[in-house]
Amino acid sequence: MSANEKRQAGEAAIRYVENGAIVGVGTGSTVAFFIDALADLKDRIEGAVSSSEQSTAQLKRLGIPVLDLNATGPLNLYVDGADECDTHKRLIKGGGAALTREKIIAEASAKFVCIIDSSKQVQLLGKFPLPIEVIPMARSLVGREIVKRGGNPVWRDGVVTDNGNWVIDVHGWQIADPMALEKDLNQIPGVVAVGLFARRPADVVLVGDRVM
Ligand code: A5P
Repeated sequence: MSANEKRQAGEAAIRYVENGAIVGVGTGSTVAFFIDALADLKDRIEGAVSSSEQSTAQLKRLGIPVLDLNATGPLNLYVDGADECDTHKRLIKGGGAALTREKIIAEASAKFVCIIDSSKQVQLLGKFPLPIEVIPMARSLVGREIVKRGGNPVWRDGVVTDNGNWVIDVHGWQIADPMALEKDLNQIPGVVAVGLFARRPADVVLVGDRVM
């Protein structure tokens, strides 16, 4: 992992921000660099839609207005990091437990610019444990369904998401068909969101300051 590449990626994403924009903002250490750079432009953007309490706090601290997605309508741009990225720009996300709001904003945005360092690039998704946000009472049920599918579910004990839910991290999957797995897992009652971004992959991936 390279903090320098994370900074480069965060700063390079600024070139996608248009005057007057409302920018969708993800979560994580790479996005923190993006938010810092966005603060320099705060007088020429309208504001941001945030994917987590953590990013909201940073945005507000830097004087960037945080807006409600229900009020803004569709966005032109979403900028977020990832835990893994394959050659088709499909992602695993949710290491920071913000996957559900991240997925909502990605879906609402015309362009998703993903910012990563080179350690996140993979041929096959799944070495990073796949995060799944679940309704707390469904934790065991979802865990059993994952075991049936050959995964090893580990409860992220002590973590409560911004939505009041829990996270299961699935170890041991080599995800050959991310689209099919995303669809399958989304059918299990109690699953709020799966940290696979296959149906809605990134549009642009910046690895440091280089477009992938
Ligand atoms: C947050 O829930 C995640 O999806 C992050 O985007 C991901 O974990 C990347 O985080 P870093 O930029 O801190 O590596």
